[in-house]
Amino acid sequence: MPAVEIKPDMYWVGVNDRTTDLFEGLWPISREGVSINSYLIRDEKTAIIDLAKAIKTDDFFAQIAELTSLRAIDYAVINHVEPDHTGVLRILMEMAPDITIVCTKKAADLLEAYYGLRENMMIVGEGDTLCLGKRTLHFVMTPFVHWPETMMTYEPSEGVLFSCDGFGGFGALQGAIFDDQCEDQSFYESESLRYFVNIVAKFRISVRKAIDRLDDVDVRMIAPSHGLIWRKHPERIIELYRDWCNYPDTPGDLAATLIYGSMYGNTETLMNAVAQGLAAEDIGVEIFDCARVHASYILPSLWTRRGVMIGAPTYEGTVFPPVGEVVREAAMKGIKHRQMAMFGSYGWGGGALRDLQKITDPMKWILTGSLAIKGGANRENITQAETFGREFGRALKAV
Ligand SMILES: Cc1cc2nc3c(=O)[nH]c(=O)nc-3n(C[C@H](O)[C@H](O)[C@H](O)COP(=O)(O)O)c2cc1C
Ligand SMILES: [Fe+2]
Ligand SMILES: [Fe+2]
Repeated sequence: MPAVEIKPDMYWVGVNDRTTDLFEGLWPISREGVSINSYLIRDEKTAIIDLAKAIKTDDFFAQIAELTSLRAIDYAVINHVEPDHTGVLRILMEMAPDITIVCTKKAADLLEAYYGLRENMMIVGEGDTLCLGKRTLHFVMTPFVHWPETMMTYEPSEGVLFSCDGFGGFGALQGAIFDDQCEDQSFYESESLRYFVNIVAKFRISVRKAIDRLDDVDVRMIAPSHGLIWRKHPERIIELYRDWCNYPDTPGDLAATLIYGSMYGNTETLMNAVAQGLAAEDIGVEIFDCARVHASYILPSLWTRRGVMIGAPTYEGTVFPPVGEVVREAAMKGIKHRQMAMFGSYGWGGGALRDLQKITDPMKWILTGSLAIKGGANRENITQAETFGREFGRALKAV
């Protein structure tokens, strides 16, 4: 994509990554893609804010070369050292050897560790500024949005916040780069939630602190390093992120996530009956087969919904592994204070439910009930499962 002017003499440049299958080697983006946004400001001094991953480097530098000679770039502001934003740094340093890198002290340590860089560094801290001519950049320290070295860069005359991973989302840009231009903003909103839960949720307290600090800042445009630029309604993505940060402190939305796995269909039969019970109580339910759906897509539902219904057979004395794995990932992301119920089929000694509780107890998930069936579900078991779903639905409403 060619560069796009986002404000006079301020440009989006970037890489639309549609070929990486797993972001961070972990989270699927084959269908959705991701954009890695970088920004160039031309003034008396020229600055580039955040760089790109070392893919499509020819395209990236060709975009920039349309705007300025690489040698003429005075500053590279590195808000965050993760290689999705610094992968091209070595090449840039070769092409623009006089460039000054502007970053936090912790970022400088990491740049040395990853790239052996020691020279041409300008270390900045909270409230420091860098005058480019007409425009002055202000640096806001936002540690742990996403790594400890992270900061954001703010340009007050246009009110642009270059927020790096903060307010970012999955989803390659589809021609349109602004919120008001894109046809399906809901796609970016749900992919922002998936990105939030997968990538930064663990640091939600730090993210919330960063957002609270923005209350006093006149932000008229959010220019993150992944996903849409929010120019019409920057407050929209700020409010979404604020809400998402708060979920573990709330009972969650009145709705349920039903995660299950089944080897021979017995637990699955129960699952369908449980889901009917929930529906009969007008509880919205999202159903995921943990062996088939990547946790990346399940975690946003667990993050936001009040109820977690877990269906799993016993496997070698333990919970069916794909189900246990998803619950463990939920624990890692800090999904707390959920109402849960468990059901499943077993062959002889059972044990799935007991094993699962070892994972969920530290998460403060409240067990409202459990249902274990030996072997195949008969008519009576199916009725029991439906009632079990209804009771869970009622318990959710009572919270
Ligand atoms: C590989 C394997 C291991 C199993 N391990 C146990 C076990 O340790 N304890 C138990 O009670 N049942 C065990 N079972 C029996 C299953 O829990 C039982 O067949 C159950 O009905 C499967 O439910 P599903 O049809 O939903 O997969 C095992 C079954 C398989 C195939
Ligand atoms: Fe990051
Ligand atoms: Fe990133």
